[in-house]
Amino acid sequence: MTRITFILPDEREREVDAIDGESIMQAALRANIDGILAECGGGLMCATCHVYMDAADVASLPPQHADEADMLESAAAPLRPSSRLSCQIAVGPTLEGVVVRVPSVQL
Ligand code: FES
Repeated sequence: MTRITFILPDEREREVDAIDGESIMQAALRANIDGILAECGGGLMCATCHVYMDAADVASLPPQHADEADMLESAAAPLRPSSRLSCQIAVGPTLEGVVVRVPSVQL
């Protein structure tokens, strides 16, 4: 298990114990995190799993592939340097304690 803190648009915090190997998106859905829609189920076809990673955590993340960057251009919320698609980030011990901000809109 890896502890992830989600910060919702209204600044409420939710701590989730994610299962190693699942994606951050899957952990969010399992925990009913508001604002992670994941309409394509992780198929890299929707951008409704957009999140902002904490700047301090960016170095511990897997690199972003070109397809993820392309799909992020479709995100409803403004992009930031720390924008990622949460379905593309696999949970593992290196992510222990990461902070994930949920955008205010996904559609
Ligand atoms: Fe659709 Fe991530 S769930 S791109």
